[in-house]
Amino acid sequence: MSNINYFPTHLALGHAFCNRKEEIKRLTANIEGTNPVLIISPRRYGKTSLAINAFQHARVPFAHIDLYKELTEEDIQTAVLNGIGVLIGQFETAPKRLLKLATDLFSGMEVGVVLGKAGIKLNFNKRKKKAADVIYDSLEKLHQCAKTKKKKAILYMDEFQVLGEITKDHSIEAAIREAAQKSTCISYVFSGSNRHLMQQMFYDKKRPFYKLCDVIFLDRILEKDYEPFIQKAAIDKWNNKLPDFVLQMIFALTERHPYYVNKLCSLLWTEKYLEENIVNNFWEQYVLENRSLIEREIELLSLNQRKLLINLSNQNPTKEVLSKSFSGKWAMSPSSISQAISVLCEKDYLYVDKEGYYRILDPLVKSVLSGETNYKY
Ligand SMILES: Nc1ncnc2c1ncn2[C@@H]1O[C@H](COP(=O)(O)OP(=O)(O)OP(=O)(O)O)[C@@H](O)[C@H]1O
Ligand SMILES: [Mg+2]
Repeated sequence: MSNINYFPTHLALGHAFCNRKEEIKRLTANIEGTNPVLIISPRRYGKTSLAINAFQHARVPFAHIDLYKELTEEDIQTAVLNGIGVLIGQFETAPKRLLKLATDLFSGMEVGVVLGKAGIKLNFNKRKKKAADVIYDSLEKLHQCAKTKKKKAILYMDEFQVLGEITKDHSIEAAIREAAQKSTCISYVFSGSNRHLMQQMFYDKKRPFYKLCDVIFLDRILEKDYEPFIQKAAIDKWNNKLPDFVLQMIFALTERHPYYVNKLCSLLWTEKYLEENIVNNFWEQYVLENRSLIEREIELLSLNQRKLLINLSNQNPTKEVLSKSFSGKWAMSPSSISQAISVLCEKDYLYVDKEGYYRILDPLVKSVLSGETNYKY
């Protein structure tokens, strides 16, 4: 038995990373060709895990700029400059030469550079220049620096929808687009957890990022890829493969949603023996613990949206949401159904699968709303 954590509920790295071979291949090819890439998927499907694994696989220095907590244009500027600082720290390891490199690169940008224990540290002075201009200049200088040093590197901008949410105009987007488009040494990779806002940024003809990127749509991991991965973890833990019915139960309850596969398996993998019903029991317990949280979240939806979500949770997936029979059964007009459906899709409560079936995206939400579990009070 090893101590490997095969099922983290945070990033899946190293042994915890399952498959995604095609996506890694495509990301690697784009990195080699310095083509900007956008990774898009619903929440918690594995965008960040995929990106980091691909970068490690490509063995190219990268900076992960996570914009999640940034609230102002200045914050975005700080995050980008810090990311650039991380990259040049990987170009040059000798402390004095690094300090000189950073001082040159950030000159005229209202930034002080000092040498800290973990590389350079940037101190930001009171700013007068426009964030978009500083960002463009610093990306341009990073490019020049990489070119001179004959280095390749990756700037990974995660939770990128934040930029669209907080900025007043599209000038920062335009600055990053221009730098990404011109770059021959720095690869740009973008992802974000709000699919709707990301699509607005990247698919609207009037926005700077229109048609810039190769887009990788991330789907759930296939059963045929999960199976050997989970069985390897089972052999490592119990010296035995899982019986097929246990595996099927894991897939049925989590619907192969990567976060929930890991959540459920991380609970199972605490057990010495897997008794019958254990998978169901753990899931029921998990649903029970999260029920009020989900219910509170659902309360924020309109009555029609709630009604539709509850109805769809309690039946098999269907293509016919706008048919007369559903309209009659749910006592809702087709136009109300259509309106509610589009909001639920936009908010990632629903998705339409490849065959055109409407499905509940989050298996935990579905379990709570379907009331299938027998709660033990
Ligand atoms: N390839 C993978 N193999 C195994 N587990 C994975 C894989 N990708 C993601 N996971 C698991 O799925 C969950 C979500 O992963 P991650 O945070 O990378 O997704 P994300 O799409 O970036 O999420 P968010 O939308 O919140 O930013 C984590 O529990 C992670 O361990
Ligand atoms: Mg992420």
